[in-house]
Amino acid sequence: HKRIGILTSGGDCPGLNCVIRAAVSHANLTYNWEVVGIPYATQGLLERQTVPLSMHGWDLRGIDPLLNMGGTVLGSVNKGDTLAHADDILASYEALGLDALIAVGGDGSLKIIHQLATLGNWKLVGIPKTIDNDVAFTERSIGFDTAINTIVDAINRLTFTAASHDRVMIVEVMGRTAGHLALHSGIAGGADVILIPELPYTIKGLCEHLSQLRERWRRKFAIIVVAEGASPCSEDVDNAASCSTAKCGRGQYIAEQIANCSNNQLDTRVSVLGHIQRGGIPSALDRLTATVFGKTAVDLIAQEKYDQMLSWQNGQVVHVPIHNVLDQSPSLVDPHSYLIATAQSLGIYVGDRK
Ligand code: F6P
Repeated sequence: HKRIGILTSGGDCPGLNCVIRAAVSHANLTYNWEVVGIPYATQGLLERQTVPLSMHGWDLRGIDPLLNMGGTVLGSVNKGDTLAHADDILASYEALGLDALIAVGGDGSLKIIHQLATLGNWKLVGIPKTIDNDVAFTERSIGFDTAINTIVDAINRLTFTAASHDRVMIVEVMGRTAGHLALHSGIAGGADVILIPELPYTIKGLCEHLSQLRERWRRKFAIIVVAEGASPCSEDVDNAASCSTAKCGRGQYIAEQIANCSNNQLDTRVSVLGHIQRGGIPSALDRLTATVFGKTAVDLIAQEKYDQMLSWQNGQVVHVPIHNVLDQSPSLVDPHSYLIATAQSLGIYVGDRK
């Protein structure tokens, strides 16, 4: 018999509850193990709190709500000076009497939990989740696919209103330092411009592209997807030193630059999608990935393979040492990737070609 803990850490995303569901069901059914949830990740550990989880514990007329519920029923924390309380957390962990811990997190929160696990000799299995998709060594992180679908849905809606009023619609999306969300959703949504942190753009190049769309292709509207971390080339910025991404990469800044370069001829509007991208019902692909990861995490514990993170590579679930993953994260868009080449081939502006 084993007693396994599971926690969700860092920013929430759709699919976390699917991991919990799969891990609990597999542990209960296949191994007859007990699974307890740790609410609010390290905060729950510190306070020695657990939530009993059972595959029969959330029956709603026979419907299992965890499969399609966004967020995390365990709650999560996204900041804090966790390591300042390391000694207390280690003592609490001992007191909880866990045989192993499954931690679902992004690179930031997995880093903290991995440090604690090393100090306390915990038997840890990590599962990657983040809408940013910037965890190294895995093609998929839970939450990314749903977020792309949410953004594409927003782009679809904005396209109709943009076309009706001949407007330039700027859609600002999340992703922190990585452009995966903007690139994937921009291509899938039919954007005319995709601006990501990995490929600096120039205002000149952007404006030329917009006028070419109008003059050469007779397109009177345009859709621009900008990642929250994107920034222009420094020569475009009056005072490059003061150009933090917060000031220069955002949609509003781009709208102002387009107004300038077009002598206010182009009518722009900005939509900042924000946390809408983190909410919602998980997509089929995220549910599938989460279910496979949750199930496999329990199997790794059965095989006593610890300090590993599950990862999706070449259509299969594999595991890699967590420290390798953390050393290589965040994993950014490769400017030479096939997706960048595809975008360029379709005439999407993704920065000036070198
Ligand atoms: O890492 C996920 C993410 O949603 C980023 O894309 C975004 O920059 C950040 O978290 C927002 O964090 P918070 O929820 O703390 O505002």
